[in-house]
Amino acid sequence: MKKSVIQSTGMFVPPNIVTNHDLEGFMDTSDEWIRKRTGIEQRHWIDSDKVTGASDLGFEAAKRALDQAGWTPEDIDFIIFATLSPDIMFPGPGCLLQAKLGLDSTPALDIRQQCTGFLYGLATADAYIKTGLANRVLLVGSEVHSSGLDKSTRGRDVTVIFGDGAAAVCIEGVETQADAGLLATSLHADGNYAEALMTELPASKFPQRMIPGLDIDDARYYPVMDGPAIFKKAVKMLPKVINESLEKAGMDLDQIDLIIPHQANLRINQALGQYLKISDDKIFHNIQKYGNTTAASIPLALHEAVEQGRTGKSGDTVLFVGLGAGLTWGSIIYRYL
Ligand code: ACO
Repeated sequence: MKKSVIQSTGMFVPPNIVTNHDLEGFMDTSDEWIRKRTGIEQRHWIDSDKVTGASDLGFEAAKRALDQAGWTPEDIDFIIFATLSPDIMFPGPGCLLQAKLGLDSTPALDIRQQCTGFLYGLATADAYIKTGLANRVLLVGSEVHSSGLDKSTRGRDVTVIFGDGAAAVCIEGVETQADAGLLATSLHADGNYAEALMTELPASKFPQRMIPGLDIDDARYYPVMDGPAIFKKAVKMLPKVINESLEKAGMDLDQIDLIIPHQANLRINQALGQYLKISDDKIFHNIQKYGNTTAASIPLALHEAVEQGRTGKSGDTVLFVGLGAGLTWGSIIYRYL
């Protein structure tokens, strides 16, 4: 039977590092507050005088993943691009990335699932592979948050957590009897919480998308978040969705070698570890260096976990889990072939 196998990973973050102290220069915040409440020490933001879209960062990550897999762009059957910060309103960055890769007919799909973009993307890739629609899938998660953040004190709760970055994985259908690939997938959404984390404008729902006379300082142009509500939801739903996947796979938590969670807040992931009663070294953290890179966050963490030798060997079993805007949440158990 065909299994979806992650053949390689690649990542790219823009070189410009923004420390918590740098943020103190333009809003009322402090390194101490940010570290204590989120664990974040720095993030990467694109150069503010250069045009850089999610597809540009995604292209860099994709090149690295393709090189590592030994694939050329022509080997890709299907591109999946996850982002909440597309380069332009339309067309989506999947098509823009496809052209940057020198391709002109490979199908490209965009998904808008925010922090669970990688989970939804991996599940989609698996479905395409299992139904024979594609065999080699390039899945990219990429975000350019910094160009759309409210950098005044008004936006400080959101602005300090977001970083720019991209990561990509090459996924291939492989015929094998081995118990490998995606062992269980659990995906959820609850649109009743859409307003708990959103950017409202520009919005097609209004008779005039560009509201005449509206100031670009209007708060609706920037992401707003009910942080405490989402925090509580995450602490409640993440363990639940982990147990759901474990049950589906008929596995116990001690059969998971490493949990790779979405990097939204170090405290959320530490609380998850405490709830599950597992040691902190069984959960991967890199939010300290990158902040919340949303759709890029889980594959970026996977890439670093593989580089550090914490996963990637045959038989290694990882559990990806995340919750974010939508709300959307989910978990996937994956075993290396
Ligand atoms: N610097 C200094 N003070 C701040 C900052 C800041 N950057 N941000 C908020 N504060 C202040 C608030 O104004 C408030 O002050 P007050 O007590 O005088 O009113 C105080 O700090 C506490 O604010 P809270 O919002 O209650 O702080 P909290 O501990 O909840 O931390 C945070 C905020 C980090 C946003 C947290 O709620 C969180 O991580 N929430 C979940 C985020 C998440 O998981 N999002 C989903 C993924 S993102 C996606 O899907 C795109």
